[in-house]
Amino acid sequence: MRKKIITGNWKMNADKNEAVSLVNGLLEKYGELNLSENKIVVIAPPFPYIHYISSVFIKHPYFFAGAQNCSEYEKGAYTGEVSAKIIASLDVKYVIIGHSERRQYFRETDEILLQKIYRAQKEKLIPIFCCGESLESREAGDHFTFIKKQLDDCVFHLTEEEFGNIVIAYEPIWAIGTGKTASPEQAQEVHQFIRQQIKEKYSESTAEQTTILYGGSVTAKNASELFAEKDIDGGLVGGASLKADEFAAIIKA
Ligand code: 13P
Repeated sequence: MRKKIITGNWKMNADKNEAVSLVNGLLEKYGELNLSENKIVVIAPPFPYIHYISSVFIKHPYFFAGAQNCSEYEKGAYTGEVSAKIIASLDVKYVIIGHSERRQYFRETDEILLQKIYRAQKEKLIPIFCCGESLESREAGDHFTFIKKQLDDCVFHLTEEEFGNIVIAYEPIWAIGTGKTASPEQAQEVHQFIRQQIKEKYSESTAEQTTILYGGSVTAKNASELFAEKDIDGGLVGGASLKADEFAAIIKA
C-alpha cells in the first residue's frame, strides 16, 4: 500500500508567534486525525523554525518536519545556503525539491534539482519532487509533454532503487495561490499519466508504490473530491496549511 501524505508548505510565511500557535493548534488535533504508518503529515516551515518543529514532533510519530529546499552543494563557503546534511541532522525527514517558485524566482534548473536530490538522498532525506505545467502550456494543450520533460530531465535519471525513495507532487503552476484548483478529473488525468510514465521507465511495482501528491489551491472544501481520485495520494498545501483548523480538515479528508 502506498503512503498517503498531506504536506503543508508554509512558504515564506508565519512569524515566530504565529508558527508556535499554528503548531500548537495542529498538535491539539493530533488524536482526531487518524494517522498511521501509511497516512502521515509533513510540515515544511521556513528554516528558522525547522528544528523547533522537528523536536516537538518527536512525540507525535506521524507528524514529520520537512524542508522547503536544500543546497545542491555538500558544505563549505556558500553563504545563506543550508545543506541536506545540516537538515538531516535536525531530525527532518522530507525536503521539497523543484517547487515552481524555486524554478521561477531562483532559476533552479532540472540539472540543479537532480544534484539536490542526490544530496538529499545521500543524507536519507526523502525528496518531494514538484512538477507541473504553466498556464501557457495547459492552454496550448501540451501539458503532458511539459511534465514528461520535467521527469525525463530530472528524476528519471535516478536508478529504480533511488526513485523508490522519492515522492512526486503535481502542482500545475496556474493553480498555485490562484484559487483556481484543477478539477478532480484534470488532476487525476495527470496523476495517471505520471504513474504510467513511471511504469514505462521503471516497473509496474515502482509505479504502484510511488506517492503522487496534488498541489494548487487545495482547501478544506475541495480536498475530499480530489483525494477520492485513485491516483491522488494526498496533497501539497500552501495557503490553507497556515490555518490549523482548515489544515486539520484537509488531513481528515
Ligand atoms: P496554494 O495551496 O497556496 O495554492 O499553494 C500550493 C503550493 O504551492 C504548495 O507547494
